[in-house]
Amino acid sequence: MKIAVMPGDGIGPEVTREAVRVIDALDLGITMTHADVGGMAYHAHGHPLPPATLDIASAADAILFGAVGDPACDALDRHLRPEQAILGLRKALTLFANLRPARVFAGLESHSALRPEISRLIDLVIVRELNGDVYFGEKGFRTNAAGEREGYDVMSYATSEVERIAHVAFRAAQGRNKRLCSVDKANVLETSQLWRDTVIAVAAQYPDVALEHMYVDNAAMQLVRNPGHFDVVLTGNLFGDILSDQASMCVGSIGLLASASLGERQTEFGTFGLYEPIHGSAPDIAGKGYANPLATILSAAMLLRHSLGQVAAADRIEAAVAATLHDGVLGRDLGGTAGTAEIGDAVVTRL
Ligand code: NAD
Ligand code: IPM
Ligand code: MN
Repeated sequence: MKIAVMPGDGIGPEVTREAVRVIDALDLGITMTHADVGGMAYHAHGHPLPPATLDIASAADAILFGAVGDPACDALDRHLRPEQAILGLRKALTLFANLRPARVFAGLESHSALRPEISRLIDLVIVRELNGDVYFGEKGFRTNAAGEREGYDVMSYATSEVERIAHVAFRAAQGRNKRLCSVDKANVLETSQLWRDTVIAVAAQYPDVALEHMYVDNAAMQLVRNPGHFDVVLTGNLFGDILSDQASMCVGSIGLLASASLGERQTEFGTFGLYEPIHGSAPDIAGKGYANPLATILSAAMLLRHSLGQVAAADRIEAAVAATLHDGVLGRDLGGTAGTAEIGDAVVTRL
């Protein structure tokens, strides 16, 4: 079993270190190879996603990814910015299906930004498309008819792109509570109309799943009004990015939400994938030692489950994280005082 480990920038290395310790503690005989990504890779090699990193990724069964993003790189040409590392990996490896589970851990109900009686009902997964949408359309700057400089980004989805992510979401719903909410903006956008038409067509193959459609503005509102309403949320790249950060605060902290990015490629042990916290490099707290590593540790659990077939080990990590939180070992993001390493220690102890 081979994992490519890509810590990246800012708090990326801090939180990844703890997830690696947790995997090591399980003693599963996994080989880990580190690779450079993001701003640190740009500084070392002149590119945020060097060819050697892609080679290491392709040779592995899974990727454990920290975070990328460096304010010092924000003025670079877009293709050289740290964020291109994660976008490039998702695209180059056809990792089109992003699963972002959000549920409230026992004992954390009162740490949500929502009232406890509302937050305790949260148990949903956002299925976010990752290879298309306005993220990957034609973009640039131009001079308009009035002689003014304007920026543009083309939003589009092809039917086949929507079909393949819809199948992932319907299957996810079948394995959960059989309710699927497809989120779009079909009242305004043709991209969303095609999205909705396609999801409706795919739904014919899943008569056991209850499908509803919701406009994204309403979905953002319902997510805080009544998050318990949602089971599986299917949405595009941009809306999924925004709604998942919002869902994290419904749970309590962005330092808690993990993700899996999957495609169709199978390895010897499962589905090849990339696993990362949904948060970024958090430059405001980088180097201070109190970033919450639990999102990355939970991403490692998803990695073991989906890519390495180590379901029991994944369950153990998730149980150890739940126990850590239940015992009140909380970072500053949750109103506590525990530092990054202390939280990692607490999880390892509970394994
Ligand atoms: P961010 O997620 O990095 O941080 C947002 C806020 O949440 C900050 O106040 C930060 O301190 C806090 N936070 C994030 N993770 C935390 C954790 N584990 N524990 C405690 N607090 C945490 O988002 P941002 O500030 O908008 O972006 C910073 C950089 O990260 C940018 O360069 C952005 O492009 C990049 N980014 C990268 C990824 C990724 O690598 N997948 C994801 C999101 C943002
Ligand atoms: C995420 C991030 C990325 C995205 C950025 C860093 C490109 O915000 O993984 O949620 O927008 O997908
Ligand atoms: Mn995001």
